[in-house]
Amino acid sequence: MSTRIALGVFEMMNPSNGMPTWTDPRGRGDDWDRLEYWIALARELDAAGFDFLFFADTYGYATLEGIMPEQVAAHGIQFPALDPMLAIAALARETRDLGFVVTSPTTVEKPYATARRFATLDRLTGGRIGWNIVTGSSQSTTDELFGVTAQLSHDERYDAADDFLDTCLRYWEHSWDDDAEVRDRARGVYADPAKLHRVEVAGAHQRSRGVFAVPPTPQRTPVLFQAGTSDRGRAYAARNAEAVFIQGQSIASAAAHVADIRAQAEKGGRAARDVAVVTGATVTVAPTSTEAHALRTEYERLLALDDAAVMFAGITGLDLTGLDPATRVVDLHTDLGQTLVQRYARQNPDMRVGEILDSFRTRAIRGFQITGSPVEVADEIEAIVDGSGIDGIMLEPTFGGPHAYRAFIELVVPILRERGRLDPPGTEDAESSPRTLRERIHPHGGPRLPDSHRARRLSARSK
Ligand SMILES: Cc1cc2nc3c(=O)[nH]c(=O)nc-3n(C[C@H](O)[C@H](O)[C@H](O)COP(=O)(O)O)c2cc1C
Repeated sequence: MSTRIALGVFEMMNPSNGMPTWTDPRGRGDDWDRLEYWIALARELDAAGFDFLFFADTYGYATLEGIMPEQVAAHGIQFPALDPMLAIAALARETRDLGFVVTSPTTVEKPYATARRFATLDRLTGGRIGWNIVTGSSQSTTDELFGVTAQLSHDERYDAADDFLDTCLRYWEHSWDDDAEVRDRARGVYADPAKLHRVEVAGAHQRSRGVFAVPPTPQRTPVLFQAGTSDRGRAYAARNAEAVFIQGQSIASAAAHVADIRAQAEKGGRAARDVAVVTGATVTVAPTSTEAHALRTEYERLLALDDAAVMFAGITGLDLTGLDPATRVVDLHTDLGQTLVQRYARQNPDMRVGEILDSFRTRAIRGFQITGSPVEVADEIEAIVDGSGIDGIMLEPTFGGPHAYRAFIELVVPILRERGRLDPPGTEDAESSPRTLRERIHPHGGPRLPDSHRARRLSARSK
């Protein structure tokens, strides 16, 4: 039987989703900050049967030695940006089945506020919400914006993320019994106080005490996504994530990555299938292969080396333009995001800084780059999924507006559907109640975290 492919779209609420494509007429330079733009996009994805719309997000922006390089503002490199979480309730109101995944960091936020926001969204969306847990990119600017002085090392940030998530899980999963919210008008009892439990956390990184203000929601815990693929990031994903977001570069490396995360998850007592893996993919499709490649060339012309260098520096803290182009990738070290540097080092330890920049200009932080006719694209997606064990793909925009998604919906979705890779149309008929995001990502399970998740073994009190 062919595997069903989960489908998502990777977005950021900024003018260009990364590289400066906002000037292109197909881009969204003029309407990225209008709610109507995002509503129209969400409706299109909902109608086409997509599983979720994913928002990457960060408080920070790229800096070099503490200063924002001119390109960031001038070329709109992930800047300026709005807070996508504030749009989710409106987008959910305008859609029926589409899930929403929002990125929120474990560094500068407080667990209780994060738990309350996601629980609120889970109630308001009827269980269509997921949280992409990140220890954060653009960390130095974020710390400055929030006045954080005690800087943690890369691995300490993941230790703090463990404490952070545990605190949220105690509130979501253990503060209210399932039958605590009685809403009994006749007896005048809203909630049964005997069925509420006080959370008490006194961890190395987090302290929090009290009863959760939000009663149990359809999923209780939002679907836990994770992005960040350093060794420590993978361990975190294997322990906690229900869906891992990777930027697959080749079938072989993605297969190794998937196998590693699943093996670590199994070692920790989880089932391999409890951890879905979703890869980013930039798809350029047109009726013929020649047209698709021409479109890709046109897109690549918008991308410049100095912008790429700025974006690379924002993520890793490394200014590659200031290094000898012959420097080897294995000699680079960063205490910020390690995913990117490790990606190149794993590909080829002998790779030089000059080559990294060249490749980063067109690939940036993206996953598989797929260009071709509708059948070629469908074949390649099937090869990726079958060859790597990946469960889903997240489409990355090219020119910035909905152009690339629309072409995919018109030209590729019907083929994948015919091949049994996507749900048949009408799966979500008007009579049935919408599935939660968790049931879309893990169709074998229910709306709540499975028993094998470590959240079940926690309790309201940390000790
Ligand atoms: C695929 C992918 C997507 C990411 N998306 C975000 C994001 O939207 N916001 C953010 O602050 N960090 C994001 N990050 C950064 C990581 O989540 C992580 O916190 C950071 O890279 C440090 O961990 P690492 O060394 O394991 O990569 C992303 C990383 C990856 C690999």
